[in-house]
Amino acid sequence: MKDFAGRIAVVTGGGTGMGRELVRQLVAEGCNVAMCDVSTEAMAETKRLCEIEKLPQGLRVTTHVADVSIEGQLQRFRDELAEQQSTDKIHLLFNNAGIGGGGSLFTNSRENWEKTFNVCWGGVYLGVRTFLPMLMKADQGHIVNTSSVNGFWASIGMGVSHTAYSSAKFAVKGFTEALINDLRLNAPHIKCSVVMPGHIGTSIISNSRKVLSGTDSDELSPNEIALARQRLEGGGVDTAAMSDDDIQQIARDRARSFRDEAPMTAAAAAKVILDGVKAERWRILVGDDAHRIDELVRQTPERAYDGDFFASLAAEVGWRL
Ligand SMILES: NC(=O)c1ccc[n+]([C@@H]2O[C@H](COP(=O)([O-])OP(=O)(O)OC[C@H]3O[C@@H](n4cnc5c(N)ncnc54)[C@H](O)[C@@H]3O)[C@@H](O)[C@H]2O)c1
Repeated sequence: MKDFAGRIAVVTGGGTGMGRELVRQLVAEGCNVAMCDVSTEAMAETKRLCEIEKLPQGLRVTTHVADVSIEGQLQRFRDELAEQQSTDKIHLLFNNAGIGGGGSLFTNSRENWEKTFNVCWGGVYLGVRTFLPMLMKADQGHIVNTSSVNGFWASIGMGVSHTAYSSAKFAVKGFTEALINDLRLNAPHIKCSVVMPGHIGTSIISNSRKVLSGTDSDELSPNEIALARQRLEGGGVDTAAMSDDDIQQIARDRARSFRDEAPMTAAAAAKVILDGVKAERWRILVGDDAHRIDELVRQTPERAYDGDFFASLAAEVGWRL
């Protein structure tokens, strides 16, 4: 699909980060967008940002509250979209919504683990199931599933467990790669891409916390403070002399620096994704760090989880996670 003007796109997790920037850039190219998110306020802000840039005449941008891990909510989103955009078809499906968390089978709750897995994997799978009939009705379609560098490398560093997110992102990558042939055989007018970003500057750390803890507060709970201590200890930091307020401050600083000191912005990432879709690339790596990690893991897969591999990778790509 070389041109998005006049098309209809679905974007999950359109409230902030890369989802918001995908919505803004699609709209700027004259594409109608239906977005979903768990946050009404965040979607309202995305819509406002689209509107101040002046929507092309007659263009529709609609917002829908839906948790992508719950099939009934996705089906409600699909029905609202059909009604509010007066359509029985869509052309583009961006399964973008995702959260981090549930890293450990030992220190995180099972509920927390499964929520992360069900959002990051289930959201993509159910998104495809829910919207495939509408993509089938279009003359051309494209499914864009967001995985991560953690879809081919299951780590963010030696001191941190990262099982739920990595499992889900590997599943998204495998599913999308297998979908290439399934679409070719059964719906050749639909293409698909797997997106694998490196570190992109977004609020994913604080948003994920809010989804998993079911609160809008930025304050860590006592349980989260205990987990943050464990995580710091795992990274070689002695927290014995730190107060709970110190831990809160470290967590705030970490979320801020993840967003503000990333090698790539969400807007730049969205442009890479949309350019990849236009070029019909099934494999879209986002960021120099993602390209380099891909090369390093392929060169020495047996070493990919060793300390010296991570140390040299982090130094080379400038990661300070
Ligand atoms: N930021 C990065 O460094 C990075 C790297 C690799 C992959 N990713 C992936 O990119 C995608 C976008 O992440 P981002 O960094 O822009 O994060 P973000 O937190 O800024 O945006 C994600 C949006 O999804 C929404 N969301 C969360 N759970 C949801 C649910 N269950 N249903 C519907 N909406 C939900 C959030 O409210 C938020 O608005 C995610 O799949 C993430 O895993 C991010």
